[in-house]
Amino acid sequence: MPKIKIALIGVGNCASALVQGLHYYSNGEEEKDCVGLRHLRLGGIHPRDIKVVAAFDIDNRKVGKDLSEAIFASPNNAQKIVDTPLSGVTVHKGPVMDGIGEYTRSIVQLSREPEADIASVLKETDTSMAVNLLPSGAVKASEFYAEQALAAGCAFVNATPCFIASNTAWAKRFEKADQILVGDDLIDQVGATTIHKTLLKLLSTNGVRITETYQLDVGGGTESLDTLERTKDLKRTVKTKSVEATLPYEAKVVAGSTDYVDFLENKRDSYFWIRGTYFCNTPMQIDLKLSTVDAPNAGSVLLDVIRAVKIAADRKLKGTVLPICAYAFKHPPKLVPLETAEKTFAEFIS
Ligand SMILES: NC(=O)c1ccc[n+]([C@@H]2O[C@H](COP(=O)([O-])OP(=O)(O)OC[C@H]3O[C@@H](n4cnc5c(N)ncnc54)[C@H](O)[C@@H]3O)[C@@H](O)[C@H]2O)c1
Repeated sequence: MPKIKIALIGVGNCASALVQGLHYYSNGEEEKDCVGLRHLRLGGIHPRDIKVVAAFDIDNRKVGKDLSEAIFASPNNAQKIVDTPLSGVTVHKGPVMDGIGEYTRSIVQLSREPEADIASVLKETDTSMAVNLLPSGAVKASEFYAEQALAAGCAFVNATPCFIASNTAWAKRFEKADQILVGDDLIDQVGATTIHKTLLKLLSTNGVRITETYQLDVGGGTESLDTLERTKDLKRTVKTKSVEATLPYEAKVVAGSTDYVDFLENKRDSYFWIRGTYFCNTPMQIDLKLSTVDAPNAGSVLLDVIRAVKIAADRKLKGTVLPICAYAFKHPPKLVPLETAEKTFAEFIS
C-alpha cells in the first residue's frame, strides 16, 4: 500500500506520542499483541502505512533537527517510550503568529531560522494530510496552516479546539477545493470527557436522575499552561456542551480544565463529581479521580483519524466528513450522542 504522507504542524507532546506510536506499532501483526490501539488495521490500513514527511515548529530546540530528535527536545515532557530511528524529516520553521502566549513566552525558545514556505513544503513532500497540533491558543496560526493546506491541495486534521471544521465557511472552502477537513478538538482515548460521558450515559440509562455534575482537571504540559491563559473558557464551553449532549434531560453540568501544575510534567489528574437520585428519590454521589499521561492519550484516536481520512479521500469525499468528526472530536460540526457517533463511524469504515 502506498504510504499516507502526513505533515505535523507543531512538534509538541502530541506529535511526540504519535511519532513514537508509529514506530512502536510498526511491526504488530495481531490485534492481541498490539495493546493500546483501538484498531490495528482500520479499513485494512496499518499504522506502518502512515509516514510523516514534513514537520513545522518555531522552537530553536526543534527547528533544523531531525524529527526523531525534535520530539524529545524541551519543553516537550511526554515520556520516551521508544527510540525512534532517524526519520530524514528536518523540522521547518513556521511563522509564529499567535503560537506563543504570555504564559508560555518564558518556556518556548524562539528559533531565528528563516520561515519556510509552508504550502511549497507540503507540495514538495507530496503531503496528503496536514495534522494540526498547535497550542490551543494559536487560533490565527491554525487558520494560517489551514490556508496552506488548501493552497497545497491536502486534507486538514484539526486536533486543536480552534473552530475550523465546525465553522461552515471553512467547511465550504475545503469542499470547493475537493479536500477533506476534520475536527475540532480531538477526543482522548481515556480522556476525562469520554469517561464522564460514558458514566453519565450508564447512570441515566439505568434510570438515575443526574442533578449536578462537574469534571475539572490539572496538567503539567505546555498546553495546560497555554490553556490557563488563553483557552480555559473555550475548552470549558466545548467540553460542557459535549458532556451535556449525553444526557437525555437537562442537568447542571460543568466540564473544563482548571490549572497548570508544572511538576506533574505531561501527567494529568482529572476529577469527577456526580450527584443524582435513583429509586424512590434516593440520593447517590460519585467522586472519582483519573490519572493519565496526556500525549499518549491522543495517539490511538489520531491514528484512527488519519486512516479514516485516507479512506474518505479514496472515496472522493470532500469537505467535513461527519462520521469522522463526531467519532474523534469534541466539537464536530454536529454533536451526536456517543453511541450514534460510534455506530456511524463503524458503518463509514465498513
Ligand atoms: N491528549 C492530548 O494531548 C490532546 C487531546 C486533544 C486535543 N489536543 C490538542 O492538541 C494540540 C497540541 O497539544 P500538545 O500537548 O502537543 O501541545 P504542545 O504545547 O506540547 O505542542 C505545541 C507545539 O506547537 C509549536 N508551535 C507553536 N506555535 C507554532 C507555530 N506558529 N508554528 C509551528 N509550530 C508552533 C510549539 O513550539 C510546540 O512544539 C493542542 O491544541 C491540544 O489542545 C491534545
